[in-house]
Amino acid sequence: KPRLYSGMQPSADSLQIGNYIGALMQWRDLQDSYDAYFSVVDLHALTQPNDPAELRAKTRRTAAQYIAAGIEPSRSTLYVQSHVSAHSELAWALSTITGFGEAGRMTQFKDKSARYGADATNVGLFTYPVLMAADILLYQTDVVPVGDDQKQHIELTRDLAERFNSRYGQTFTVPTPVIQRDTARIYDLQNPTAKMSKSAESDAGVLWLLDEPAKSAKKIMRAVTDSEGVVRFDREAKPGVSNLLVIYAALSGRQIASIEDEYAGRGYGDFKKGLAEVVVSEFEPVRERALALLDDTAELDRVLAENAGRAASVANRTLSDVYDRMGLLRRV
Ligand code: TYM
Repeated sequence: KPRLYSGMQPSADSLQIGNYIGALMQWRDLQDSYDAYFSVVDLHALTQPNDPAELRAKTRRTAAQYIAAGIEPSRSTLYVQSHVSAHSELAWALSTITGFGEAGRMTQFKDKSARYGADATNVGLFTYPVLMAADILLYQTDVVPVGDDQKQHIELTRDLAERFNSRYGQTFTVPTPVIQRDTARIYDLQNPTAKMSKSAESDAGVLWLLDEPAKSAKKIMRAVTDSEGVVRFDREAKPGVSNLLVIYAALSGRQIASIEDEYAGRGYGDFKKGLAEVVVSEFEPVRERALALLDDTAELDRVLAENAGRAASVANRTLSDVYDRMGLLRRV
């Protein structure tokens, strides 16, 4: 089977609906057709300020949400990035073939360092995409399902793989991104031209997978729309309604046109009520399963440890080839 790799940062207590629709739903659907690896990228999360105890909790919560959403740790390899030391080691090796200017062009780095300010930004944020390239390349990955915002990082990953292969000989599979055109970018409900994000300044426009259903329903009822009063998809003129339509279609498996028809001649209130029902019925079982998994952290930790062992055996093989090719003297 071809290899699939993807991951998420444990940067909040809960995933948001953009992570769910943009990534997790694809992961779940693809896991049968691929030899799939899914990581909770805790090393990446260190680039933001974190309380240590909270980071540990968020890491478990993220893993629990993967499983609750349908990733099966007996079929797919679901593990915590820092449990496999080869990630940090390959990142160092790859950093030596990454151009300074090349890393500086990454828009996520530019956005985040501008947001944090010169004092709070850090070298880890700058080398973040190199660590992401290491994640992917260690597993000889064929495909990487992600949302739109990760596209540039995967292009860098491809460039680094090709550069390494041509400099040191064929070592890495060059991965291909899988980006679902319609759902690759879910927008903030209060600010529907900005990407929904786990690190949004205001919570009002973010739908959290683990929130109380009533809270999510309320946020949907308050979502920003427009004054036209017609449920119709038009990204330019009606970003709020269009975003809600995309969420509705993705979760219900329906076409946008059929949803437009259903709400023709009815107001936004009805439409939002319908969407709230769809969201709540999708999230509720995921939330219950995740909370149940988090009741038994010993079992969850055991599953993660077992999966990390599987991941490490693949990763260490690639790392060892890389060290050989680069001319590092191997310990006898
Ligand atoms: P992260 O944790 O920011 O996001 C996890 C996944 O969710 C997608 N996503 C969205 N999709 C649609 N609409 C949105 N509003 C939205 N917000 C987030 C992201 O595109 C991503 O697929 N650097 C990565 C984590 C990472 C990784 C990797 C991914 C580290 N190593 C290796 C793939 C392969 C990140 O910060 O994702």
